[in-house]
Amino acid sequence: MSHTPIDQQRAWCALAEHAAGMGRRHLRDLFVEQPGRFETFSRSAAGLTLDLSKQRWTGQTLDLLLDLARDAGVPEAIRGLLAGERVNRSEDRPALHTALRLPADARLEVGGEDLVPSVHATLARMAEMVERFHAGQWRGATGKPIHDVVNLGVGGSDLGPLMVTHALADYRPEGIHRIDVHFASTMDGSQLADYLTRLNPETTLFVLSSKSFTTIDTLSNARTARDWLKSRLLGAAGEEGVDEALVMRQHFIGVSASPEKMAEWGIADDHQLEFWEWVGGRYSLWGAIGLPIALVVGMEHFRGLLAGAHAMDRHFSEAAPADNLPVLLALAGIWNVNFLDIRAHSILPYDGRLEYFAAYLEQLEMESNGKSVTHDGDQVGYSTCPVLWGQLGPNAQHAFYQLLHQGTQAVECDFIAPRVRYDDVPDPATRDHLMGQHRLTLANCFAQSRVLMLGDDAIEEDGPRPEYKHYRGNQPSSTLLLDRLTPETLGALIALYEHKVFVQATIWDINPFDQWGVELGKKIAGETQHTLEHRTGLEGMDDSTRGLIEAVWSAEAEHGR
Ligand code: F6P
Repeated sequence: MSHTPIDQQRAWCALAEHAAGMGRRHLRDLFVEQPGRFETFSRSAAGLTLDLSKQRWTGQTLDLLLDLARDAGVPEAIRGLLAGERVNRSEDRPALHTALRLPADARLEVGGEDLVPSVHATLARMAEMVERFHAGQWRGATGKPIHDVVNLGVGGSDLGPLMVTHALADYRPEGIHRIDVHFASTMDGSQLADYLTRLNPETTLFVLSSKSFTTIDTLSNARTARDWLKSRLLGAAGEEGVDEALVMRQHFIGVSASPEKMAEWGIADDHQLEFWEWVGGRYSLWGAIGLPIALVVGMEHFRGLLAGAHAMDRHFSEAAPADNLPVLLALAGIWNVNFLDIRAHSILPYDGRLEYFAAYLEQLEMESNGKSVTHDGDQVGYSTCPVLWGQLGPNAQHAFYQLLHQGTQAVECDFIAPRVRYDDVPDPATRDHLMGQHRLTLANCFAQSRVLMLGDDAIEEDGPRPEYKHYRGNQPSSTLLLDRLTPETLGALIALYEHKVFVQATIWDINPFDQWGVELGKKIAGETQHTLEHRTGLEGMDDSTRGLIEAVWSAEAEHGR
């Protein structure tokens, strides 16, 4: 039986009324009226400080949003998520990414089984593999130590490891056999083709990362990689005893929730790392999908990443809603989307190491909450996930900030930066320069959020100005400061956003753990591919698609195919 939709409940109506009363009150006035906003609206946990004072809200707004969270059952939902309830209702399973970062001495019983031992058994298998690579003992078919590892995966089997390996590149352990990790995700083979021209097949291994092990993007890259290895290593190398089985064994690792499919594809049993259906693809970097991360930073730092995420999980579970970072970040988003009608959200890290963070969040947020049907199957009558995109802040300043400052779209921004960086650079002169560059970066970060907030009021009035030199301000933002960027704080940062997404989904009454929206495209792509290849079925197509396909065929005909 459907319950009363959230937008017809008391707390939502009170917020709508409050929003109407607030009108378009300018952030600059809120700062004048309420001294000490930073103190009032900032909270810290797990090495992160979240400043929400530049949100276009008051203490009363936040109280009403906390009422909304309570009425939507957020505290109970958090307990259910962490206890392993079947929160992914359309697929009837729990979403237990938090179990992947529980310490070894914890217990989490789900369906009568304690999950912690199997989680740690997988970590131990990863550790063994990583140790072999780092000792130079994982050898290719011709006996040379593997030096390059290419991760073949897409979506959650690519973006998390890609983002984290880039962010933590400074944490590479010293004194080990170095492994260079690369990522190829696109089905068009662009990235892979480049690696195949540069890498040595004798010292290259591929990790096939795919929860389902059915994703065509990954499998098509995998087939190309397999043929490349075979054509280079079998016979041609003139090596005695190098056969197909040896190539498959020494040059492929599989990571999936489907051991049967990995085996069918030819991955050796003991080179398979398995994970569980209860880990969503975009929530999976904490386990075996994180193998590329561990290959770069080592298991100790990988465990640091898990520990940081676990610290955020504990905070999420224990802190009161009014002090709970994920809850507060989620509520700021709800206020913007549902009550201030701000439907665009930009992620702006001021630290080059976080280059792929926005791309990672695009999947996490939009694949999780880009939904319009409630758990009960009703159409929602309110907005859900905003359009979210981003880029390194300093580069975005020279690209799309124009729109943030003077465009017609209202946009919420998240600014992210570490408080300190480069203080450990050994050479004093270089250290001074780089620390100065970091301060310059922070100055830009703080200046941008200030101008977005104040507009023209950020500068002294210096006489009349043409309209095109005016800044309206009043654009809300959140600022997240990491004490410094470490495996632990990065883990906490990612977990913060995972939980924020969950809280918003709870309020919107949608399932953040499925992704049915992407399935139809896959099916139609299969049919279209069949038509393209076999030249049948064109009659059933719409006029546009028919025209496009014919354009391809005529180009192929011109080139004699
Ligand atoms: O098509 C979307 C999706 O299923 C994502 O949810 C997932 O992260 C990605 O494809 C890759 O899936 P897999 O890990 O099963 O290859």
